[in-house]
Amino acid sequence: MYREWIVKLTDRARFSTICLHAGQEPDPSTGAIITPIYQTSTYVQEEFGKHKGYEYGRTQNPTRMALERNLAAIEAGKAGFAFASGMAAIGAIATMLKSGDHVVVSDNTYGGTFRLFDKVLTRYDLSFTYVDTSKLDEVERAMTTNTRLLFVETPTNPVMRITDLRAAAALAHHHNARLVVDNTFASPYLQRPIEFGADLVTHSTTKYLNGHSDSIGGIVIAVRDDDIDWLRFIQNTEGAILSPFDSWLVLRGTKTLALRMQQHNANGLALAEFLSAHPKVKRVYYPGLPTHPHYELAQRQMRGFGGMLAFELGSQDNARRLLNAVRLHALAESLGGVETLISHPATMTHASVPAERRAAIGITDGMVRISAGIEDIEDLKEDLTQALAAV
Ligand SMILES: Cc1ncc(COP(=O)(O)O)c(C=O)c1O
Repeated sequence: MYREWIVKLTDRARFSTICLHAGQEPDPSTGAIITPIYQTSTYVQEEFGKHKGYEYGRTQNPTRMALERNLAAIEAGKAGFAFASGMAAIGAIATMLKSGDHVVVSDNTYGGTFRLFDKVLTRYDLSFTYVDTSKLDEVERAMTTNTRLLFVETPTNPVMRITDLRAAAALAHHHNARLVVDNTFASPYLQRPIEFGADLVTHSTTKYLNGHSDSIGGIVIAVRDDDIDWLRFIQNTEGAILSPFDSWLVLRGTKTLALRMQQHNANGLALAEFLSAHPKVKRVYYPGLPTHPHYELAQRQMRGFGGMLAFELGSQDNARRLLNAVRLHALAESLGGVETLISHPATMTHASVPAERRAAIGITDGMVRISAGIEDIEDLKEDLTQALAAV
């Protein structure tokens, strides 16, 4: 009698409980506690005009829909739509724009987002203004009567600037624009932008939500009914859906999101403190350090400071020596996985950003970024100690 142990969440359900259970129930045909991978392209209809709510795999898939409900609940939204990558999710948001529209964007946004906006969407008579969204007076100045979206990343990658989400939402709404937050870097454990007034939240699920470096995916979470209708339409129309297997992987990932984030937070802070005290390191970018310019805002807005940090070694040569000397830190793009990754933003994640823009944002050739994993912190510190000796 599996129906007796279907988990019903109360309105009071806390974050880790929501992560584990929201959107899922034992499989109706067997009682399997884990939502199965429904690897099917179509569904047999009972009789003419009568089906079980599932017609075709692009339009409806039970595994994907369980993930979409799960992530909508985790982000305190109303509905979620899962896409084949984080970029496909951002591309779906972009379809909300019409020619002539204007978007204000964090100047330090992910390089792939900048590439989409700058190289593709400008061909459709859309315009973009890039500002430091941590400075709300700059945002205010950039807004025009055609501005439809304020697109924010906080913390930014890799210089970790923080935008005040509550103030950004108020400002966007004052100008009849939507606030969109790419929450990939923080994860909903650290901050839930919808609670501060954001209209749309997007993630590369590739990162913290999946958490195990074994899937590429994206999600858009919405609260407004008109946005939900449009996103459902566009997900089916353009068809860049997340596969059942990847949906299943991310659903498994979110079950441990809270636990993983606690360890990412602890390791991120410990590495930031360790690097700050190291004589070869000139500067550390981490919002959990009291020296960070947005430390107080980060404390107010975030639950912990996350696993992402960057630091300055003074030259590309020094960065290269360190990156070639690490053993436990994996030299790789991406972030948010259980393994610690280390990278060189100027030539890796931000290579598609022109050099003068990189310089304006503060991404130097001597900058190194770490995505702190969940290893024992002593092993990470030992590895950095031996690698910094090569600098
Ligand atoms: C902040 C942010 N947004 C979006 C993306 C794009 O996600 P994906 O690689 O899954 O397409 C990334 C990828 O690194 C990212 O870091």
